[in-house]
Amino acid sequence: MPDEGFDRRSFIKACAGVGAAGAAAAAGIGMLRPLTDMDVEIIPISYPGVHVMRGSPAPYGLPIIPLEITDEGALRGVPDAFENQLQWYRYCGHERTPGALPTWDGDDLIRYHVQEERLRKGLDTWFADIIGDQVRWQDFPEDTPDPLFADFPGAGAPFQWRSTDQPAESTLTGMILRAPAEIVDFTAAIVPTQEEEIRDWMPQHPEDPDSVFLACASMCTHFCCVARFHEDRLAVQSGYGDRIFCTCHLSRYDPFTIDVYNRTIFRYPEAEEEGGDA
Ligand code: FES
Repeated sequence: MPDEGFDRRSFIKACAGVGAAGAAAAAGIGMLRPLTDMDVEIIPISYPGVHVMRGSPAPYGLPIIPLEITDEGALRGVPDAFENQLQWYRYCGHERTPGALPTWDGDDLIRYHVQEERLRKGLDTWFADIIGDQVRWQDFPEDTPDPLFADFPGAGAPFQWRSTDQPAESTLTGMILRAPAEIVDFTAAIVPTQEEEIRDWMPQHPEDPDSVFLACASMCTHFCCVARFHEDRLAVQSGYGDRIFCTCHLSRYDPFTIDVYNRTIFRYPEAEEEGGDA
């Protein structure tokens, strides 16, 4: 159900104010006409996402990114598998990001990716030497090799998709997990037909039918920091080693429980026309 207080499509004039200006700054798109100069549309969206845990400052779950495996073994995101999948990224200032627009003409393959700043500091993870490569099922371990996470099931890695050759501020990020199929669960908000469809978005490991791959966006729904899985010592120290963890303000998400979320986002039709210029 849409949030109360907004019509299905309510147009307001150019008053997104601080929120829009902040989003523009976060996206590094100051060279373009400010979003505050534009008409803005407020639209409700609904999406299946990994469950945000109680007590987290983040208000919503992270949206699922449906996956499929190509003949070559690469993992590919399936945009538009549900209506609002790409629109969701606008919350984090991606109104003009080419990959978030239907006009994107690159591929949908997912590729290992971490922020430049982390790369400069040096990575000590199982995927450190394959950053930039396509994510392939053949390369993905069953469990995280780091002994710190030995007690927790599955393995995970951060990726970018629909963002090849884009600057950092126009990069769409996510995380992919390989996990035992039996631990993936659905809340009561997911009806059986939806559950069937969502399970189709989590392909089985070709040589291990007990494992599935699942992916979600990694931009925390609190303030858009990048959340991670099996990467942060702080997650283990605070008792959340088996959760997606955002170190900015300690939001936790249960990647193995799928829920449904409703929220509103801004849409700037003129900004979309300017998409690709950022
Ligand atoms: S908890 Fe604040 S941005 Fe993630």
